[in-house]
Amino acid sequence: MSDHHFLVVNGPNLNLLGEREPAIYGAVTLDEIESACRAWGEEHGVPVCCFQSNAEGALLDFLQAERHRASGAVLNAAAYTHTSVALHDGVRALPFPVIEVHLSNVAAREPFRAVSLIAPVARGTITGMGALGYILALEALRTMTADAPEERP
Ligand code: DQA
Repeated sequence: MSDHHFLVVNGPNLNLLGEREPAIYGAVTLDEIESACRAWGEEHGVPVCCFQSNAEGALLDFLQAERHRASGAVLNAAAYTHTSVALHDGVRALPFPVIEVHLSNVAAREPFRAVSLIAPVARGTITGMGALGYILALEALRTMTADAPEERP
């Protein structure tokens, strides 16, 4: 049963935000992004539950455990975006909308980043907007789930 909360899920190396390639990813830390997402949730009356892992299986386990509880998810799968058939299949199996987010503009970087295995199974993608992308994605989820809370992506 859904208790109407949103997930913010971050993949490998995003725990290093702030110190990792700040010219590309900015100075903002993951703690700051997660705090901003939780604050957005308090403001809009939708709890936001944050999770980060460097492990593909842990990301899948978390999403699966939430599949009958959450109403939507923001997912930055980081490098797994470009490689993970398992995450593609896992997102495809979720009954709620998933918005793919990237801090950097992946289309303007190395060619291998132009391919996303998440994009075809996400409701939409926000890329290149930095930390603001997470808030834009939460806003999108709020609009989508207000209209059709149980609609599949
Ligand atoms: C990223 C882009 C990915 O290509 C990269 O592997 C990341 C971060 C982003 O947020 O811009 O780790 O997802």
